[in-house]
Amino acid sequence: MGREGEPWVVMKTARAPSNIAVIKYWGKRDEKLILPINSSISVTLDPEHLSATTTVAASPAFHSDRLWLNGKEVSVEGERYKNCLREMRARATDVEVESTGRVIKKEEWSSLHIHIASENNFPTAAGLASSAAGFACLVYALAQLMGVKENYEGELSAIARLGSGSACRSLLGGFVKWNMGQEADGRDSIATQLAEHSHWDDLVIIIAVVSSRQKETSSTSGMQESVRTSPLLKFRAEEVVPKRIEQMEKAIKSMDFAEFAKITCADSNQFHATCLDTSPPIFYLNDTSRRLIGLVERWNRHAGEPQVAYTFDAGPNAVMFARNKEVGAELLKRLLYQFPPSSDADFSRYVIGDQSILESTGVT
Ligand code: DP6
Repeated sequence: MGREGEPWVVMKTARAPSNIAVIKYWGKRDEKLILPINSSISVTLDPEHLSATTTVAASPAFHSDRLWLNGKEVSVEGERYKNCLREMRARATDVEVESTGRVIKKEEWSSLHIHIASENNFPTAAGLASSAAGFACLVYALAQLMGVKENYEGELSAIARLGSGSACRSLLGGFVKWNMGQEADGRDSIATQLAEHSHWDDLVIIIAVVSSRQKETSSTSGMQESVRTSPLLKFRAEEVVPKRIEQMEKAIKSMDFAEFAKITCADSNQFHATCLDTSPPIFYLNDTSRRLIGLVERWNRHAGEPQVAYTFDAGPNAVMFARNKEVGAELLKRLLYQFPPSSDADFSRYVIGDQSILESTGVT
């Protein structure tokens, strides 16, 4: 960067975490604007273990927008990337390049091309919400690069939503609600934070990674098929989820684990039931997922009240919530005993949100 007329480049790097829904989003009422048929609630995961890191760069020397995902160049021509880039360019402001004092004028952003390089620290498209972290990170990084001033709960969340529905929830930490909204242009279909992570830091999250293979049916096409063919999905969106959202908000506010676990498990099971109710049926769970459900259900029944909750997205990986550190340590012990991890076993690895429970189990 330097003297007038010389090529220059500006770049920013950002990291955004993945999130896991405890009340699932499944089905759109508007495919283009990515507006959901029901509201959803999620927990944002620890970025140490599950996040996307994205570098965005702009330079007059770039001749087109380009994108690299995990080191491989992919097309940026898809509507989703184009929509996010267009909306961010429209909100760009004058940006001073610190090292040179040069100012990139607001109007210049519309003709400057962007290069994007994004990496996940977890398996892509294996049902661990990689698109959520990816688009949240892209929007966040572009906001830094282009001096976009909008806040993360408002317009930026709606722009991340244009990339992938669940991405709007990853711009916020802790417990997050994506309001389905009412407006036709989607301006009120945004995420808001229900509570900080520290509000309920007793909860321990353990993720059992079943497979790093790409899933067979993407969420996008799976939910399209469900909207088209599943009567259960319509019933779920209209009759079940609105009540669950209210109950879940209360459970989170009052840290009522029994209620949180009951709703989380029931909602995961109903989501997978709608997949089975889709024609042709979609199977995201496998035998291992079902064995794990059995283990948690038996444990909770014997304990008299829920100790652990499970939830599965569009893949067989399990995300479990333990009510506190002691239960988390016990859960990890039982998992390691019943499902020892290795590359050819049911679970290839476990990701633990809170490392301190490893000490109490003696696992290193
Ligand atoms: C099962 O957000 O990946 O994880 O909006 O088409 O990109 P698109 O779908 P996506 O769907 C996520 C579905 C889910 C449930 C959830 O995260 O709420």
